[in-house]
Amino acid sequence: MIIAETNRLLLSKITVDDAPFLLQLMNTPDWIKYIGDRNIKTVEQAATYIQNNQLKCYETHGFGYYKIQVKAENLKTIGTSGLLKRDNLDHVDIGFSFIPEYHGKGYGFEAASEIINLAKHKFNIKTLCAITLPINQPSIHLLEKLGLSYQKTVKPFEDDEELLLFAKNL
Ligand SMILES: CC(C)(COP(=O)(O)OP(=O)(O)OC[C@H]1O[C@@H](n2cnc3c(N)ncnc32)[C@H](O)[C@@H]1OP(=O)(O)O)[C@@H](O)C(=O)NCCC(=O)NCCS
Repeated sequence: MIIAETNRLLLSKITVDDAPFLLQLMNTPDWIKYIGDRNIKTVEQAATYIQNNQLKCYETHGFGYYKIQVKAENLKTIGTSGLLKRDNLDHVDIGFSFIPEYHGKGYGFEAASEIINLAKHKFNIKTLCAITLPINQPSIHLLEKLGLSYQKTVKPFEDDEELLLFAKNL
């Protein structure tokens, strides 16, 4: 189900059919380094992950993470971006992840700008936040380009490292 379109990209709801792509994305070196190893090693595990996370999120909140496809490349799926409401953060947070071959082409900015547009106009979200590891320079750069600004360091997850919290009023 298509949720939005930009100049170069389509944004659609993720389904269990996207399990092979999620398996690939979640095992890229950047995902493991900057987001964390979720221990998803088979297509079946990826399909279960999608059911328990993305699909559940659409059901509970109406929003979630979307797959990003390139219109000019026969709808090749290149990443995901979207919104998440975590119990341990006050506001909805935005996130993004693309396979390495598609970094540095402005797709992150293009997709995430549209997610912010949806957050404001479709989902009526008033304050958006984001969390990132302090070493994740590409993510920090993109968050700042999207107009989010650094607030403070947080430690929302037990046993996890300190993260930087960014936010923006919509
Ligand atoms: C974070 C991440 C999405 C950033 O992706 P990205 O491709 O670097 O981000 P952008 O879309 O901003 O593109 C970067 C560059 O592409 C360049 N670019 C090339 N062609 C472009 C075009 N047609 N239009 C716009 N920019 C273009 C831009 O110059 C931009 O660099 P600049 O901001 O210094 O000017 C990516 O590094 C990633 O997927 N990382 C792994 C997952 C991750 O860490 N996620 C965040 C967890 S907190």
